[in-house]
Amino acid sequence: MFHIRKAVVTGGSSGIGKALVDTLLREGCEVFSLSRTIRSRDFFVQMGELHQIACDITDGRAVENAFSQIAEQTDFFDVLFSNAGYGISGSVVDTPKEQIARQFDVNVFAAVEVIQQSIPFLARGKGRIVLTSSVAAVVSLPYQSFYSATKASLNMLALALNTELKPYGIRAVAIMPGDAATSFTENREKIACEAPLLTDRCQRSVARMEHDERTGASPALIAERFVRIAKKNAPKPLYGIGLFYRLVLLLFKILPIRFANWVVGRMYG
Ligand SMILES: NC(=O)c1ccc[n+]([C@@H]2O[C@H](COP(=O)([O-])OP(=O)(O)OC[C@H]3O[C@@H](n4cnc5c(N)ncnc54)[C@H](OP(=O)(O)O)[C@@H]3O)[C@@H](O)[C@H]2O)c1
Repeated sequence: MFHIRKAVVTGGSSGIGKALVDTLLREGCEVFSLSRTIRSRDFFVQMGELHQIACDITDGRAVENAFSQIAEQTDFFDVLFSNAGYGISGSVVDTPKEQIARQFDVNVFAAVEVIQQSIPFLARGKGRIVLTSSVAAVVSLPYQSFYSATKASLNMLALALNTELKPYGIRAVAIMPGDAATSFTENREKIACEAPLLTDRCQRSVARMEHDERTGASPALIAERFVRIAKKNAPKPLYGIGLFYRLVLLLFKILPIRFANWVVGRMYG
């Protein structure tokens, strides 16, 4: 089993990231948590050693600064949990380029920058990069297509990183959770759907998605699975978690794509 002594978590201030921080602290790890919000120490489990670093990961200077602060404390960490992210909703027709760019900036480009900064630290312990992807990476969600596209990008990134980082002994894993009950739902940026034929459909679709998220899995359960996967000796590049979502991912692999996409359209279209 791979041993996690020190880890970096992006988006550790809330939801799945906060649960990851807690799970790691409970196991006695030293954790560096990067997010824009700094919480009181009481917000987290009172074990392990926690360093919260204020950092907007889309700000290159702030990321460099954060890694300088990490370097003052350690010359290695075992796992980067690249988890920070958010979602936008709206139709492809209506979404302005600015919002699309911001979605990719936070979920993909900033994640890449954090990964780049992490390589020297991870290389020292032949560590792991764990990316928080989503079932939406495989199941393209109508009215959330740009969110889906960012998560599909993370899956591609994990696959390529495994090849490119082999000389460093670093493994990359993208984990695809399904719905989780976190602040993700209230933090979603909703782009007004003004195309006359789409307004009602978009609203219905997003309302259904929000209901599924609010009744989704607990972040603690998801974090526990993430850490279990990160500790595997030979992790796969891609994982679904939870029986239902693993089945969905399997069906998307084996069913004719026209049929699978039709089912998604019936549910969320
Ligand atoms: N909830 C779900 O149903 C679900 C399902 C599958 C995948 N996911 C993915 O899980 C990850 C975590 O989301 P969550 O559900 O835990 O939502 P959440 O509770 O809203 O947490 C999002 C985290 O990302 C951080 N973050 C966002 N933008 C950031 C930025 N520019 N710089 C630094 N940190 C930033 C936030 O911290 P600050 O606001 O303090 O910066 C927060 O800690 C996301 O990547 C999301 O796409 C969620």
